[in-house]
Amino acid sequence: MATNLLIVFYSRNGSTEALANAVADGARAAGAEVRVRRARDTVSADVMAMAPGWAENSARMQAEYEAPTTADCEWADGIVFGAPTRFGIVASELKSFIDGLGGLWFGGKLLGKAGAVFSATATTHGGAETTILSMYSVLAHLGLIIVPNGYGDPMTFQAGTPYGAHTAVDGQHVKAPHDNDLAVARYQGKRVADVAGALKTLRG
Ligand SMILES: Cc1cc2nc3c(=O)[nH]c(=O)nc-3n(C[C@H](O)[C@H](O)[C@H](O)COP(=O)(O)O)c2cc1C
Repeated sequence: MATNLLIVFYSRNGSTEALANAVADGARAAGAEVRVRRARDTVSADVMAMAPGWAENSARMQAEYEAPTTADCEWADGIVFGAPTRFGIVASELKSFIDGLGGLWFGGKLLGKAGAVFSATATTHGGAETTILSMYSVLAHLGLIIVPNGYGDPMTFQAGTPYGAHTAVDGQHVKAPHDNDLAVARYQGKRVADVAGALKTLRG
């Protein structure tokens, strides 16, 4: 039976979305069944109007991706969370979805499944690693087995982080993730799918 991988992301400018799709490509290439879901907006229309493109991008992604559900999480053998870094930690829209997983946590439904994280920032040293590492706490509470990238793909010497995929996109000078960032994200998808499959066998 195929390994089921759920990718839950939040994005407004599209860079985390691009990483999410690269993670999905890597997982599919490894034979996994993949669902890609976008966490919903939580801020007011006033905030969404603050930057050109946010509202339009959101409307497009809202139409393109289903909202994540607890049923998706139960279906999954592994979950990969991705979000922009905001002030050095994860975007609240993704955390808002995660905070609705109390029932699954209480029932131990995610115990022993695989978990991983990726993030986008505007600047290279803008906090992607603090975001990913702080999300490791969330994964631990949920009982997910944390799957870091390590340096398993040599591309990690040029892009991403050993904790998870990353891209630095400021939206003005750099519009889309570099190919190297996407390569690390594809590797992350394959790695998490492989580990999730092994853990599925262990869970029986
Ligand atoms: C409120 C807010 C806080 C942000 N904080 C950071 C930050 O701490 N470090 C950083 O490098 N970028 C920060 N950014 C920029 C985003 O992380 C960056 O634009 C990212 O690429 C957005 O991802 P997206 O394209 O998927 O929407 C912030 C953006 C917003 C709106």
